[in-house]
Amino acid sequence: MEGEEVCGIVAYVGPRRGAELTTLLVGGLSRVEYRGYDSAGVAWTGDGSHPIMVVKCQGKIADLEEGLEGIENRLSGAAIGHTRWATHGDPNETNAHPHRSCRRHVAVVHNGIIENEDLIRRALRDRGHVLQSETDSELLAHLIGEFLNGDPLEAVRTALETVQGDFALAVIFRDYPDRVIFARRESPLCIGVGDGEYWVASDPASFMEHTRKIIDIGEDQLGVISASADPVIVDFGNVPVTAKIEEIDWDIEEAEKDGYEHFMLKEICRQPASLTDSMRGRLLPEGGVHLGGLLDHRDVLQDMQYCVLPAAGTSLFASMVGEILIEEIVGVPAVARNAAELANRQHLVFPRNTVFWAASQSGGTADTLSAIRRAQALGHRVFGLCNVVGSPVSRETDGGVHLHAGPEIGVASTKAFTSQVLLFQLICLYIRRLRGQEDLPWMGRYLEEMRRIPKLAAGVVAQSDLIRSLAERFYQGYPSFYFLGRGILYPVAMEGALKLKEISYLHAEGYPMAEMKHGPIALIDERFPTVVLVPQGDDHYEKIVANIREIKARKGIVIAVASQGDDRIAEIVDEVIYVPRVTYYLLPILYVIPLQLFAYHMAVLRGCNVDQPRNLAKSVTVS
Ligand code: AGP
Ligand code: GLU
Repeated sequence: MEGEEVCGIVAYVGPRRGAELTTLLVGGLSRVEYRGYDSAGVAWTGDGSHPIMVVKCQGKIADLEEGLEGIENRLSGAAIGHTRWATHGDPNETNAHPHRSCRRHVAVVHNGIIENEDLIRRALRDRGHVLQSETDSELLAHLIGEFLNGDPLEAVRTALETVQGDFALAVIFRDYPDRVIFARRESPLCIGVGDGEYWVASDPASFMEHTRKIIDIGEDQLGVISASADPVIVDFGNVPVTAKIEEIDWDIEEAEKDGYEHFMLKEICRQPASLTDSMRGRLLPEGGVHLGGLLDHRDVLQDMQYCVLPAAGTSLFASMVGEILIEEIVGVPAVARNAAELANRQHLVFPRNTVFWAASQSGGTADTLSAIRRAQALGHRVFGLCNVVGSPVSRETDGGVHLHAGPEIGVASTKAFTSQVLLFQLICLYIRRLRGQEDLPWMGRYLEEMRRIPKLAAGVVAQSDLIRSLAERFYQGYPSFYFLGRGILYPVAMEGALKLKEISYLHAEGYPMAEMKHGPIALIDERFPTVVLVPQGDDHYEKIVANIREIKARKGIVIAVASQGDDRIAEIVDEVIYVPRVTYYLLPILYVIPLQLFAYHMAVLRGCNVDQPRNLAKSVTVS
């Protein structure tokens, strides 16, 4: 399945040079600024008589513009630009793209992840290459440089034969200053066709103000653009592909959101892609798990006797799922804790060999950082589950995993939750194997379903219209909602309530299902709907049914999210949304999606600002 699009590539060949070329590159990059990025850079060949020039910077496109001040006139030849969203190595100037080969005769911009980078890095070092950055992408420049022997397209093709992972690439060569070579696998890329000029970009928004003619580059294709000839596209077997020029009939704003009305909706709907990316290179074909950020800590994980999971908001709910996974899959007691409460405790006592797992999408949450520091001061090892590489959480933790879910722009967190839940599963499987615990009989099916989870999630996302009609029934006249779940779906109920609160400004509360009868049920009447999460095959299914009947007996409206094929539930409740049946541990990933969509559609119908809800910030950097 295709991965999540990451930040931007823009490349150009044609007559423009100097300040005009600078504006074109910088303008193209700023068109993809909305995706979120941490650094940017450009490179150009000139006339081929000098090494390739590069200007890059950490931070904003405006900083890149500043870096180019005074030298705009020098830009000429084939040119490439990049906005980076780090996956390997901190966001700093050295790690920013473009990357060059040793002799500076090749420069590369790359979107994606090279999975076998350890292997390639070692091989290149053994062959005497001096690498400047910590990125996986720099390796490509060196490899291509090594394979260059008269045919730049062939050099890229051969280099990529040794590479596993996903990529969109644009490459320039000092000795071929009239062309850009491109290649893609599971990362989007397209050609902009001008009059005697061409672009290659990961997002057509980068060239749309210059041309609306576009050629889509297909999966596993590569090729050449040059000012003096038509674009050439081939597949990896060198078989030519016929290029089809199409006309873009949408505007830039639509392009930014990929045709979705809001970033939040885009992020919900593209969870199949972000889940694919989170799993890529980690869940190995033979069922093993590879997590590079935990490799150096195997001794600690082997001796681990207790786990604490400090986090905030949505990340806390993902951690509550993590708590169950650690206890049940690894067999080690675990507890998710509100990060601020934990950090503010005067006395903290944890067993020896306690390991902390701090989940944070942004990696900038002050409360989570305080908890991390507290744990470290007590001498405990802390690992992060973080989406933003180079963020304070990813720097200050001792190791961990990056989510690789791609930038999350909507203030309401969605895809980070499903990726965190997925990564907690991989972490547990990894530790289980490390500790020599045997596979259990159900694990084969579990792994197989985990591999299919992006596809299954796509099926749930496809019910967006159905969920919208549900929201149409409830967006007016129902000021409060309960969300109920049991076991691993209790945190999901909490998350469903948080989503509704955050973006639709309706009152919502999440409860463990059985807690209803201890008080909350007093509020139930015909204007107070309850969303219940009902997995079929659950040991407590009959109890859940009894809980639902208690609500119905008090005239409450019940909306169920239930397992496909559960016809019985439809007879008891008022509304039902079905999701596929999967192994218990994977339920949160599929059950949360209808709740995200419900909150989204409710908010849109209520006229709320979905992407930037009132009173909230994407990353809460104050405690
Ligand atoms: C949830 O939609 C967010 N608005 C918020 O609760 C968030 O999950 C919380 O602030 C933690 O953020 P983090 O994952 O970046 O640490
Ligand atoms: N993996 C590359 C890096 O970390 C590319 C990231 C991107 O797609 O922006 O530099």
